[in-house]
Amino acid sequence: MTTATVDPPAIAGGKPTKSTPYAKLPRYGEEELAELREAIAQQTLFYASGKKVHELEKQFATLRGAKHAVACSSGTAAIHAATMAVGISPDDEVIVPPITDMGTILPVMWQGAIPIFADLDPKTYNLDPASVEKAITPKTKAIIAVHLAGNPCDLTALKKIADDHKLFLIEDCAQAHGCHYDEKPVGIVGQIGCYSFNEFKHIACGDGGIVITSDDALAKKLRLATDKGYDRSPGVANRNAPFLANNYRMTELQGAVALAQLRKLDSIISRRQSWCSRLTKRISGLSGLQLPITQEHGTHSYWFYMMRVDKSTLGADADEFSKAIKAEGVPVAAHYIGNPIYKYPLFQNHSAFERGEHPYRRIDYTKTSCPTAEAILQTCAILAVNESYSDADLDDTVKAFERVVAWFQSKR
Ligand SMILES: Cc1ncc(COP(=O)(O)O)c(C=O)c1O
Repeated sequence: MTTATVDPPAIAGGKPTKSTPYAKLPRYGEEELAELREAIAQQTLFYASGKKVHELEKQFATLRGAKHAVACSSGTAAIHAATMAVGISPDDEVIVPPITDMGTILPVMWQGAIPIFADLDPKTYNLDPASVEKAITPKTKAIIAVHLAGNPCDLTALKKIADDHKLFLIEDCAQAHGCHYDEKPVGIVGQIGCYSFNEFKHIACGDGGIVITSDDALAKKLRLATDKGYDRSPGVANRNAPFLANNYRMTELQGAVALAQLRKLDSIISRRQSWCSRLTKRISGLSGLQLPITQEHGTHSYWFYMMRVDKSTLGADADEFSKAIKAEGVPVAAHYIGNPIYKYPLFQNHSAFERGEHPYRRIDYTKTSCPTAEAILQTCAILAVNESYSDADLDDTVKAFERVVAWFQSKR
């Protein structure tokens, strides 16, 4: 096809495909207000004396098939509590992915431990088990597996590696509410699963997090880790902190909102799954784009829709493609977090603290190289997803993709 016969996209002067905004349903409403009113009526907003946080924990644990859940103030706090509970200590090594949020990595650093970055699978963008295995040393204590974008990791392989080497497996499920592996919710294959309720996640309470485990001893430590080491179990008032903990408590206000949100989760996930799988079906014939790939045992819960752009087939790189799609009115952005985390100044310059040592200085991160992760960031484009999106939004999105791909291909 020549450019002359192709409908010019918005970037070449055509009319943008999307003439109406994407549907947006209110996120919070009467259900949250009703829970908040009840929380206020309790005349306490403290988790230990109120009912909302405890109820959230009970419901979340049941929903995710875990024996215990401990709510906390953020997803980062959840991961920090997990690292405290499993006893991560200074100079330990913890294997982590280089494409994630800093909330995965900071807790490792605050324990005085050393993040060791393993490479990723080029199709799922999650930890590559072979690279994880290569990164293990006698100092390795844990693996933190992030289910990126709501796409599950290869948990069978990662659990086997963790068990073979006697390591803890912590699942970072911050982006993966409603995501399943082997028909089970993520977060229960590892010893501990950590979720976030920050404003941008599938369900939210402004900020908040929750940790799940089926290990009684870990559950006890998780509670202490989030409450300054104070034991507030019924009939106990013990302030004798047994280890270095923090105040990561969730308030009754957050608990109330999260409870109302939890009731909406199934519908949020199924709407996202339906919309995204229909999108994949309709654009899968377009060449030059690697659409989301979920491994055999997984179900994706689409926190976002992550693609890779193959310049040699499409005739455009991730920047050019994203710019053109965005001009059509479709929310796509290239490169996700931009750089793999080990390229951040914090690692390149060992600048964790202004003065003083941190064990991670032992690693020269200027020599860290995860080529697949770097290639993924170079070539990826992310479509923002929301459960509110309508069928008309889907039609427009498909049209925009078709139009832009046809345009680039006509110019080759
Ligand atoms: C993969 C991942 N881990 C951890 C976090 C940290 O969660 P929070 O922002 O609730 O601290 C996030 C948040 O964006 C995340 O996406």
